[in-house]
Amino acid sequence: MLAPAAWCERQTTAHDRPLDTAPRLYGMAPRVLLALLGAAWLLIASAPLHAADLRHGKNLHNKHCIACHKSMFGGDGSKMYTRPDRRVNTLSELEAQVRRCDANLGLRWFEDDVDDVVHYLNQTYYHF
Ligand code: HEC
Repeated sequence: MLAPAAWCERQTTAHDRPLDTAPRLYGMAPRVLLALLGAAWLLIASAPLHAADLRHGKNLHNKHCIACHKSMFGGDGSKMYTRPDRRVNTLSELEAQVRRCDANLGLRWFEDDVDDVVHYLNQTYYHF
């Protein structure tokens, strides 16, 4: 009689396993390992290395960037990003612009800082 869970149990016992099973399993190990490595690499390569911290981006932006834009456009200065003839039209242009401003102002932001501000501006104004 089969136990209820018999369908998911091994149907053979160790005694009737053919003798050559073990070498075949060892032979498969490198392939399995390669597949796992491949999967891990894909995960690492496809996930952004740094998940943007929008709040940090906003803080940096408000501290270092707004005042000047504000003096030009009034309000909260965001018209700089929403005006019809704005200069930035792609995500990579936005990143380049943020890097230019960072360099011009001598802020020497870390990569993560640039990334956070780019994502904050994109999420809030540009929507690329
Ligand atoms: C000293 C004044 C000043 C400061 C400080 C400043 N900016 Fe700007 N920013 C400008 C000016 C002027 C322009 C417009 C350039 C143009 O239209 O040719 C501009 C344009 C931009 C644009 C492009 C807007 C568009 O047209 O789409 C972005 C993005 C931007 N600034 C980001 C920043 C960031 C990020 C910081 C802080 C690191 C910053 N700015 C600090 C003066 C400033």
